[in-house]
Amino acid sequence: MVSSAAYGEVWDSYWRDLPAGQGEALWDGDPESSVPYSLVSAHLDPGLPLIDVGCGNGTHTGALADRFPLVLGVDISDAALDHARAAVAEDRVRFRRMDVLDPADAASVHRLTGDSNVYARGLLHLFTPLERAAAVTAFAMLNGTTGRLLSYEPAPAAGQLLAELVARPDGPPPKVARILRYGVQPADLREHETEDLLLDAGYHIVAAGSHLWRSTESTAADAPVDIPMRYVVARRTA
Ligand SMILES: C[S@@+](CC[C@H](N)C(=O)[O-])C[C@H]1O[C@@H](n2cnc3c(N)ncnc32)[C@H](O)[C@@H]1O
Repeated sequence: MVSSAAYGEVWDSYWRDLPAGQGEALWDGDPESSVPYSLVSAHLDPGLPLIDVGCGNGTHTGALADRFPLVLGVDISDAALDHARAAVAEDRVRFRRMDVLDPADAASVHRLTGDSNVYARGLLHLFTPLERAAAVTAFAMLNGTTGRLLSYEPAPAAGQLLAELVARPDGPPPKVARILRYGVQPADLREHETEDLLLDAGYHIVAAGSHLWRSTESTAADAPVDIPMRYVVARRTA
């Protein structure tokens, strides 16, 4: 198992100190315009549960609640899960601690839910290449043979954009500064890295493409900061 105690500590302190309420984190904008939700209806199986891996404060877990029989938000951070439980009250939604880098955690979630859709937004890019492969192995365990995966991660251009924001003469904007202060290392996935990891793990790619995601941060001229993202939909069986 890859050691991920450090991620738990970093993210717990980030979430513990973040004020409650939607929009406080850089990535916590309006969910419907933050991800092409048409991909969810087009490609995920509405008859299976959905697991939102790295669910944070549960904004997307809640937004997806009425589309699946059960929506389970899982995260390594208990503080994130506290935010999520306080914010999302839908009957079909549950939250649970899970470390995506620990195969035993993924196995016990799969025992609970059976084959499931997996939704992972802004997760893989946080990890080292070896850890990304471990996370994809966990996705495969959660999907089983019938579930499908929707991955949504920063494109390489997002890393350049963040570097520009950090280098601003008046310093990075506050939500970017907050992330860096807690030691989160964002956005360095290579072009097509997610697809390559999934193919190596035996997935078939169903759809992939680019999307601009509107963050909750603004430029110095008060325009919204849009972040280049890449989505991949994949399934385990041909
Ligand atoms: C950038 S946030 C994205 C949150 C959410 N997916 C969203 O889009 O609003 C990344 C999340 O991944 C979680 N995380 C980091 N490492 C993890 C791990 N090893 N296992 C599970 N979750 C993890 C963090 O606690 C954090 O909530």
